Amino acid sequence: MTVYAKSPDGEVGWERFMAKRARRMRSSAIRELLKVTQFPDVISFAGGMPAPELFPVREIEEACHFILREEPAKALQYSATEGYPPLREFIAESMSKYGINRTPANILITTGSQQALDMLGKVFIDEGAPVLTSSPTYLGAIQAWRAYGARFITVPLDENGMQVEKIEPLVKQEAPRFIYVLPNFHNPAGTTLPEERRRLLVEIARKYDLLIVEDDPYGALRYEGEDIIPIAMLAPERTIYLGTFSKTLTPGIRIGWASAPAEIILKMVQAKQGADLHTSTFDQMVVNDVAQRGFLKVHVKRLRKEYHRRRDTMLDSLTEFWPEGCSWTHPHGGLFLWAQVPETVDTQELFHIAVERKVAYVPGINFFPNGDGGRHAMRLNFSNANPEKIVEGIRRLGVAIREMM
Ligand SMILES: Cc1ncc(COP(=O)(O)O)c(C=O)c1O
Repeated sequence: MTVYAKSPDGEVGWERFMAKRARRMRSSAIRELLKVTQFPDVISFAGGMPAPELFPVREIEEACHFILREEPAKALQYSATEGYPPLREFIAESMSKYGINRTPANILITTGSQQALDMLGKVFIDEGAPVLTSSPTYLGAIQAWRAYGARFITVPLDENGMQVEKIEPLVKQEAPRFIYVLPNFHNPAGTTLPEERRRLLVEIARKYDLLIVEDDPYGALRYEGEDIIPIAMLAPERTIYLGTFSKTLTPGIRIGWASAPAEIILKMVQAKQGADLHTSTFDQMVVNDVAQRGFLKVHVKRLRKEYHRRRDTMLDSLTEFWPEGCSWTHPHGGLFLWAQVPETVDTQELFHIAVERKVAYVPGINFFPNGDGGRHAMRLNFSNANPEKIVEGIRRLGVAIREMM
């Protein structure tokens, strides 16, 4: 069979066979950047990766053995799309400890919370549909929703997260399908939305009858200050809450969840059926076993202690090694901080100098859905490299910035 390189419309390559949706898809800039960072001598602040030396290998190994010994027929079989019932119960119960009144019927287990983001696209976004987000925002959400043709309506951030005071005129004008918020330790900015802004957001969402997507992968990783009331608790009737075990246990076992009003969960279940039937039964049982033994709580405490130390090391090193005219956020938790360099420095250009000096980060522009900001900003991850490497990497970046200034 001959495959012609050109369609009658003059399109070349395989794209001519593809849906419009596929043509809108782009490789994640972070995945491309990570290729550079895989060289062993590069200190990478680019990915959002947990510290591998803290992975609970023994506990996971024990759980695997236990499950294969005790319940192999269940663990290796197909299972319900909604998820493994004991794990759904565990999640519903832990959420109720935070005051979020949800039952297992409100919980859908997903293959990482990234899958939940994609399913939200499938369920809520028609081509050209407006979605309201902060700018910058989580790259994985931009990537997922762009494919469905989302139009990003954006609101700027300040040191207290999304400037909720600015959303009402946009909401009035655009009627977005939902408002996407990262209230705790924002990725990429590291900011946290104070209670007053959460309440204002809910007030506006109620006034204009809008859905809120509360993406909260880092909420358990707080290093200072007090927990702030979740939006899902303030407005359970209109909030889709996304959680994950990626940052509290391990991201390689792809287990996340969505918690939402039951009717929305039902539609997401239908969307998930077409994608993967269900999340790995075995993986769900492993996470459930580790979590039910009470280990998760102990482990999160250990993570908090170590990441707190790494955050402080990064903040101290920035003060010590970076030139005047730079600034950065002071995250109360999570894995990232957002740094601003002088206007004479473009962080995309700086990236090449940085890589020559064997240090990497993510240039800010990648987190702006409409490409309209972040040229003098970058995201720095402080969980993956150990403190010694953090000091050295920040020193190298300081040298690179001075060189470009
Ligand atoms: C804000 C945010 N949402 C969702 C995800 C996806 O996480 P996962 O699919 O590993 O649960 C991430 C991962 O870094 C994230 O930072």
